[in-house]
Amino acid sequence: MRRLLIAGNWKMHKNKAEASAFAQELKGKISQLSENVDIAICAPFTQLDTLIEALGDEKRVLIGAQNAHYEDAGAFTGEISIPMLKEVGVDLLIIGHSERRQYFGETDETVNLKLKRILKEEDINPILCVGESLEIRESGEENSFVESQIVAAFKDISAEDAKRITVAYEPIWAIGTGKTASSQQAQDMCKVIRQKISDLYSDAVSDEVIIQYGGSVKPANAKELLSMEDIDGALVGGASLKVEDFVGICTAK
Ligand code: 13P
Repeated sequence: MRRLLIAGNWKMHKNKAEASAFAQELKGKISQLSENVDIAICAPFTQLDTLIEALGDEKRVLIGAQNAHYEDAGAFTGEISIPMLKEVGVDLLIIGHSERRQYFGETDETVNLKLKRILKEEDINPILCVGESLEIRESGEENSFVESQIVAAFKDISAEDAKRITVAYEPIWAIGTGKTASSQQAQDMCKVIRQKISDLYSDAVSDEVIIQYGGSVKPANAKELLSMEDIDGALVGGASLKVEDFVGICTAK
């Protein structure tokens, strides 16, 4: 039985005081969460230590970063490496978010390199983002596009390691637009992703992989999305910035 993983992606939001206030408020609500839900906050690098200090003992809340380089060290001005994040104590790392692909030159190849590097660390697990643009959806090519992202991302990754990858299906047209994919559209693509992972490995592997939906998830639509067979959680942007909304999503199912 797969557990649910609800992860907040704060993107480039919140200063230290705001992160600290969020953590304190969230701490007071953790008892409302059901046992079969894991929750996570993926914060800007400079707020990771604040969250880990505030929530580190709360085994219920995983802390994640939103990007890292695939090299351990070197002349890469402005980058952060996976060993650096390990030292800080992160549990999760988002890789291949569409905003990184769109604005910062992330490619299928760098996504694969980053995944392979993270998987060398036993205690950091990746959230791999995939998803099509509106143009691709309108052309009817969305399934083959997302399948090709999955094939490229999982290249040369063992079955044991593949099980540790959470996949977040985030259609670009639904991110930050208020336009959520219908629960059926989201379910259909999450099923395509699970089938592709089964083709690459086996049903046993694909049954274990957590597949999230992301794109304008809110307390009001979370229950329906999370009730779909192949949707095992959510990657939440805007609605993860307020504790009330985030907890509303975490307790929706
Ligand atoms: P929104 O929930 O703001 O649409 O963002 C989704 C997202 O990109 C999460 O990674």
